[in-house]
Amino acid sequence: MAQKILSIAFFVLALSSSADAGKLGDIIFDDKAESLKKAGVAPAVFPHARHEDIYKCDDCHPKIFQDKRGANNITMQKNMSGEFCGSADCHNSQKAFPLYQCDKCHREKK
Ligand code: HEC
Ligand code: HEC
Repeated sequence: MAQKILSIAFFVLALSSSADAGKLGDIIFDDKAESLKKAGVAPAVFPHARHEDIYKCDDCHPKIFQDKRGANNITMQKNMSGEFCGSADCHNSQKAFPLYQCDKCHREKK
């Protein structure tokens, strides 16, 4: 009995640690290097793991973002008009900090 409980505990432990290990880290958006520089903002940092904690994969993939690094042509105009980061319920709603807080996203240290 004790052994069975122990093996279940190990199984659960293995599951949760492998789920953590699978999380993606920060993704840096700097495709638009030239216009970022011109506007005087740093490249944007997307904390993938934090978003994984709050949403399901298919909340974003594929309807908001293609799940391939560099595959999404994100501009601020698109963000402001309700695509990508500015999609409904995201950074143009009460649920997350708003798009005018530039430095919360544009914060990669250079
Ligand atoms: C809040 C939205 C969001 C959620 C939720 C989300 N992702 Fe992503 N994911 C992104 C963004 C943004 C990128 C970066 C795309 C880019 O670089 O253009 C990305 C990138 C990826 C990539 C590509 C990584 C690479 O190095 O090329 C994979 C794979 C991925 N996500 C899988 C997942 C899985 C699996 C889940 C659920 C556990 C998930 N995503 C949840 C937004 C999200
Ligand atoms: C929720 C996150 C987020 C916020 C807030 C945000 N941005 Fe962005 N912004 C991005 C992402 C992601 C990109 C894509 C960058 C790339 O791929 O190079 C981007 C791109 C840009 C670009 C380059 C592309 C273009 O459209 O010209 C500029 C300039 C820019 N942002 C300025 C701003 C300014 C100014 C603010 C505040 C008023 C702001 N951003 C707020 C996420 C954000």
